[in-house]
Amino acid sequence: MKRLLVAGGCGFIGSHFVRSMLAKPEWRVINLDKLTYAGNLENLKGIAEGDHYRFVRGDIGDRTLVNELYERERPTAVVNFAAESHVDRSILDPAPCFETNAIGVQVLLEGARNHGVERFLQVSTDEVYGDVEQGEPCDEEHRLAPSSPYAASKAAADLLSLSYQRTYGLPVLIVRSCNNYGPFQFPEKLIPLMVRNIMMGQDLPVYGDGMQRREWVYVEDCVDAIRRVLERGEDGAIYNISTEEEHTNLDVIHLLCELTAGEASMDVASLRNRIRRVADRPGHDRRYAMRATKIREELKWNPVVTFEEGLRKTIRWYLANQEWVERVTSGAYRDYYDAVYVRAWG
Ligand code: NAD
Ligand code: TYD
Repeated sequence: MKRLLVAGGCGFIGSHFVRSMLAKPEWRVINLDKLTYAGNLENLKGIAEGDHYRFVRGDIGDRTLVNELYERERPTAVVNFAAESHVDRSILDPAPCFETNAIGVQVLLEGARNHGVERFLQVSTDEVYGDVEQGEPCDEEHRLAPSSPYAASKAAADLLSLSYQRTYGLPVLIVRSCNNYGPFQFPEKLIPLMVRNIMMGQDLPVYGDGMQRREWVYVEDCVDAIRRVLERGEDGAIYNISTEEEHTNLDVIHLLCELTAGEASMDVASLRNRIRRVADRPGHDRRYAMRATKIREELKWNPVVTFEEGLRKTIRWYLANQEWVERVTSGAYRDYYDAVYVRAWG
């Protein structure tokens, strides 16, 4: 059996990825996750620990724990999703974001090089290219110009990963994805936040003029891309993951109002009346845009879920899982899991 260390497998994209890898019998997956506010064991409900799966609660920045894990499990591949992933939080307090997204990645890389890991895949973001308000969409050679502390910490991890390839010969791969959406996304990000607020009767906050542009990929399409890169990507290569379709935030919010009104038998006009302009995010990037030619041509990846279809699936999931939303946003949920999962090694 091939052994895969997944870091951050209890988060949004990581949990979809873990489920996807476990669908293939040849992998043993070791999931290392700190269970921050964004990490949730419920995202992997139904997956039992055993020969194919093990969960370890811990911090990727904990050198002792990480070294013990490499020593004991001898993973041949590592995929790192673990991160403080929210731009707004990184603006309020950049420190946790640098501790995990930069220093934590160094700890994972160091363990990988000392324990003969054959593939190290770092999950990165379009945000490392910074604002592309003017000009062509970025290919993988585009300069890095991160705007937020979050984006800067992710760019630091990209550069560090590449340095480990060049200096120590660690086989490193990087994927840079556009915005993901789908089930199990923490309701602080745009799409699940809007659906939550619609259902809770709250306002729909639009930062600034709402004309910022983003590309959106359905999480299962992104996971398919990551798997292809893990299994067939070229060592040392960077792959953009993008639908190459841009939407303004305001368009996304209007579409969410329309689709949610349809799904939940609500009045669309009254939902649209709840859209409120609020102060803009400091340093807010106006546009992200990437080319995904490389992954399409080399690895034959193509997103299959259209934006409208993906939004419908997402809305239906959030409507059917309002208790999940309640639990992940309540303090009671965290207290429960803190009590159940005290870190026990050995
Ligand atoms: P998420 O916030 O939903 O999940 C992050 C996971 O990492 C959580 O389970 C959390 O408990 C865990 N974690 C955080 N700090 C940790 C630490 N120090 N040690 C161990 N585990 C820790 O994030 P996501 O949206 O699933 O994003 C996953 C990765 O993909 C991140 O690296 C993010 O930068 C990147 N990414 C996300 C998007 C997106 O739209 N969500 C787009 C591009 C790239
Ligand atoms: P977000 O989901 O936080 O992802 P990112 O900042 O990584 O792109 O935000 C997506 C876009 O939506 C971004 O331009 C900020 C904007 N936004 C709002 O207008 N209102 C909100 O309440 C949120 C959370 C985001």
